[in-house]
Amino acid sequence: MSEGGILSQHLETIAAHGGILINRICSADQKQAYLDQAGQLPRVTLDERAFSDLVMIAIGGFSPLTGFMGQADYERVVNEMYLANGLPWSIPVTLSVSEAIADSVSAGDLVRLDDAAGRFVGVMELTQKYTYDKMHEALHVYRTNEEKHPGVAVVYQQGVVNLAGPVWLLQRDVDPRFPSYQIDPAESRSLFAEKGWKTVVGFQTRNPIHRAHEYIIKCAMEIVDGLFLHPLVGATKSDDIPADVRMNCYELMMEHYFPRDRVILAINPAAMRYAGPREAIFHALVRKNYGCTHFIVGRDHAGVGDYYGTYDAQHIFDEFKPGELGIQPLKFEHAFFCKRSHQMSTTKTSPSLPEERIHLSGTKVREMLRRGELPPPEFSRPEVAAELARAM
Ligand code: ADX
Repeated sequence: MSEGGILSQHLETIAAHGGILINRICSADQKQAYLDQAGQLPRVTLDERAFSDLVMIAIGGFSPLTGFMGQADYERVVNEMYLANGLPWSIPVTLSVSEAIADSVSAGDLVRLDDAAGRFVGVMELTQKYTYDKMHEALHVYRTNEEKHPGVAVVYQQGVVNLAGPVWLLQRDVDPRFPSYQIDPAESRSLFAEKGWKTVVGFQTRNPIHRAHEYIIKCAMEIVDGLFLHPLVGATKSDDIPADVRMNCYELMMEHYFPRDRVILAINPAAMRYAGPREAIFHALVRKNYGCTHFIVGRDHAGVGDYYGTYDAQHIFDEFKPGELGIQPLKFEHAFFCKRSHQMSTTKTSPSLPEERIHLSGTKVREMLRRGELPPPEFSRPEVAAELARAM
């Protein structure tokens, strides 16, 4: 397809957040120039989350960010859910390092970024170093300062100085675990346009798809042209079901329960923050960058434990002006299996009494599997239940 063709197709999809889909992947020449300097550059090692943030910035998933946040963006995001330029943004994207590492670099340096395995993966044009208040970040972003919250724990464990500046990813490697599902924002946008989808709903998940997920997804599919099934495969907490097992489950769902031509399954390389409401906004903006027009927000989206109210992640969307986010949330109530009408429902559609409802959640499925029990068909499709039992 000609470049002009791709461009005109892009015009048919929604704008990226901030208007331009960011691309911070080096050209071949640029990469060679950085490789030539590799030995002389000060070095910072990225942990798993910072590496996935680097990738998300580079592929445009975090547009309009071109690097790790400086102090003005960071503070306004934490306090007000806006970038310094006035665009909505709800989660800090920062590169936090120890004081010793911060002392080894200066504003103006080109910093070499290595992954945890010591591979040279990118560079940062360091513009700023700043300290920040971890407790303040925890309370505002995660709504708790408890260390047992997995997102807060990461903040408390990370370094005390944030390094800021634009980044470049040396090259976009294919995730060897899921080569056929690595679809970056430029490509998903082209795919949506090729399929003629004007409206696309994004679905975030960190669990195998159980019946409640399937129900809300299909309700959404009734009103849009296509589904972008977009499971998160970056860092998750240790008791979440591993991404490779989940991918097998998604494939089974695609094979047996979804119309193939109306679904695109793709991986989201980002790390999970478990920031509930704040993360729901973030998840929606990321899907907007992938070209989605709509985004599903169900019960306790991106929540953990009892930190957030069941619908807090829906209410937070009302804090923004209409149209300001540029993606439409589709909000769903807690779905359950209704024994009276023998189908998935919510209180909006079912007349059942509480005792006639089978409530489903990823947490419950995990508990059953740990006990060696197979989730029942009201919980999970049998193919998925069998795959989970096999894998766990
Ligand atoms: S999340 O951390 O990625 O949000 P999960 O994979 O469980 O966790 O949820 C994916 C999406 O499905 C979220 O929007 C969540 O709110 C929604 N969801 C999960 N379970 C239910 C349920 N029983 N009823 C309604 N929505 C649900």
